[in-house]
Amino acid sequence: MAPEDASRLPNASHVRLRPEIVATPPYRQGKPAAPDAFKLSSNENPFPPLPGVIEAIVTATDVNRYPDAAATELRQRLAAEHGVDENEIHVGAGSVALLSQFIQAAAGPGDEVLYSWRSFEAYPGLVTVSGATSVQIPNDSAGAHDLDAMAAAITDRTRVVIVCTPNNPTGAIVTADAFAAFMQQVPPQVLVLLDEAYAEFVRDENAVNGLDVIERYPNVVVLRTFSKAYGLAGLRVGWALGSEQLLDAARASAIPLSVTGTAQAAAIASLQRADELLERVDTLVERRDHIVAQLRGQGWAIPETQANFVWLPTGDETDAAAATFTEHGIVSRPFAGDGIRISIGEPESVDKLLAAAEVIVNSLPSGHGARTIG
Ligand SMILES: Cc1ncc(COP(=O)(O)O)c(C=O)c1O
Repeated sequence: MAPEDASRLPNASHVRLRPEIVATPPYRQGKPAAPDAFKLSSNENPFPPLPGVIEAIVTATDVNRYPDAAATELRQRLAAEHGVDENEIHVGAGSVALLSQFIQAAAGPGDEVLYSWRSFEAYPGLVTVSGATSVQIPNDSAGAHDLDAMAAAITDRTRVVIVCTPNNPTGAIVTADAFAAFMQQVPPQVLVLLDEAYAEFVRDENAVNGLDVIERYPNVVVLRTFSKAYGLAGLRVGWALGSEQLLDAARASAIPLSVTGTAQAAAIASLQRADELLERVDTLVERRDHIVAQLRGQGWAIPETQANFVWLPTGDETDAAAATFTEHGIVSRPFAGDGIRISIGEPESVDKLLAAAEVIVNSLPSGHGARTIG
């Protein structure tokens, strides 16, 4: 890699860029893990793809051709599986691309996009790029969406509401009852994006499942991904389920041809092996529940997580706590002043994670970690 002072290009600071974009930090990925450290910072799946998936990737050799822009076969399979028309499925290069398309399709300058906070780090930037304004409603004390406060914050400028369940980074779910009550308060002209990136890890029977409730709501789009449970984060495939009119608006806002043929082939192969993949998810859920029980035993009061990560409310001690994880060979995702998110990873990572967490919880001043979330 080039050293930092290697730039030969003239300074371009006179170019007029949108001020809100200049003020937005570019996306920066977490630090790469040291060779012997566990990367538990991106909610990835620690399992490698199943052998059949690798074969499908290797067999998709016609890379001199553009891919099928409509991802026809993948959409047909998803549509058949979920009992909808193939036009009610839309595929994007990760569900983050879909979020971007729907926000751009519905919101622009002067409009508002409403979501709970803290939630998925990408939401604020996506809203800024659309030209719209973010309205962030604080999570409740259990790290869950405060849906009443969200409903109360809807104005005639609100174009999109994002509901993230389980919520990244706290892992809290929205229940089916709470979602139904919320939807009664959302005007029909407001688009609701139900971001369910971690749906396959949910075991709480009270949780809303977008695929079960979508028929009731013409203004809801459900977002799912192959990145987490299906372990294809590196290939970038996500999908949306919703009415054809809404999905057409997203298709019109999309950068064409961004879902590669290789990614489509891998997603299809993964669907064909769903049983085996979902067994792996069960393993991760067991590991999560074990880690949560151990952390609580150490004195952590952590929110109820239904995702493939846990949230440690370390408050002002977050940077120091992240350093302790690093010393123990764990790459975590700290949110300064707030808390740390740790993904459920390899079996060998568990003892290191717990050892570091124990050191941290014992060193936290009162009012942090063990005592902030009940
Ligand atoms: C809540 C949520 N939504 C969407 C995404 C985007 O996932 P992808 O673009 O890999 O499908 C993520 C990724 O971390 C996420 O946490």
